[in-house]
Amino acid sequence: MAERAKVIVHMFVTIDGKSTEYLEKSKDARFGGVVYDQFVLTLGEAWGCGRATFDSHKKVDLSKYADKPHEKKDSFKEGNTPYCIAIDRYGKLRYSKPTMHYGPSDCQIIEALTENVSPEVLHHYDEIGVGYIFCGKDDFDMELFLEKLYAHGIKTFVLCGGANINQEFMKKDLVDEISLIMVPGVSGTRNGITSFGSEEPGEPKLFKLKEVKDIGHNCVRLRYTK
Ligand SMILES: NC(=O)c1ccc[n+]([C@@H]2O[C@H](COP(=O)([O-])OP(=O)(O)OC[C@H]3O[C@@H](n4cnc5c(N)ncnc54)[C@H](OP(=O)(O)O)[C@@H]3O)[C@@H](O)[C@H]2O)c1
Repeated sequence: MAERAKVIVHMFVTIDGKSTEYLEKSKDARFGGVVYDQFVLTLGEAWGCGRATFDSHKKVDLSKYADKPHEKKDSFKEGNTPYCIAIDRYGKLRYSKPTMHYGPSDCQIIEALTENVSPEVLHHYDEIGVGYIFCGKDDFDMELFLEKLYAHGIKTFVLCGGANINQEFMKKDLVDEISLIMVPGVSGTRNGITSFGSEEPGEPKLFKLKEVKDIGHNCVRLRYTK
């Protein structure tokens, strides 16, 4: 295997490991959120999420590109780091601009696709200025994805959810580090959104504690490595 980008799964969680949206009115959780965002933008040269997390259900009329062929060749748009990577194997996401606004940054969007994407969608990405890389023919090849990121100078990829895509990387033993910002509350929900997990039964994975830090406002940062 060629050299690949390291993967840090970075999540913002309650004490019971759930999504923090249950606590959004809490001052402490809002503080934790600001710290979380700072890490998203500084832990690596790229950050990204799964298709469902990024899906704004935007509609675009692709009929103007009908019958226009398009080659399946990477179009990595160079920009300032960090890049924003949308893991979107079938090219379901639609855009009105080439960048994702996050905190103070506008991050160049790169779609991580398979070849199972229509020419129309590629024309749409070209028109908007969204970059793309092909990572597999029918199935999304995570190793190839990370190798391609590395080849573009991305040594560390910060994967920010959701649970499903985090779990897909976990299953393949491609999560090198877990970084959690834990806010001082309990969601109180049994089936709420967690940091890892898909519908299929998962197998336990062990990590080692690297750092525990009191970051103020009753929040802690936890880091685990393999
Ligand atoms: N810290 C937080 O609180 C936090 C962080 C992130 C997200 N969230 C929340 O979590 C929810 C979404 O999370 P989620 O777990 O449902 O979705 P997700 O992980 O963002 O995306 C899941 C999608 O990834 C695709 N996928 C599945 N397996 C794959 C594979 N092997 N390779 C490539 N792509 C694959 C599938 O879409 P396709 O079949 O279309 O490819 C699947 O529906 C949202 O409500 C979001 O707001 C919360």
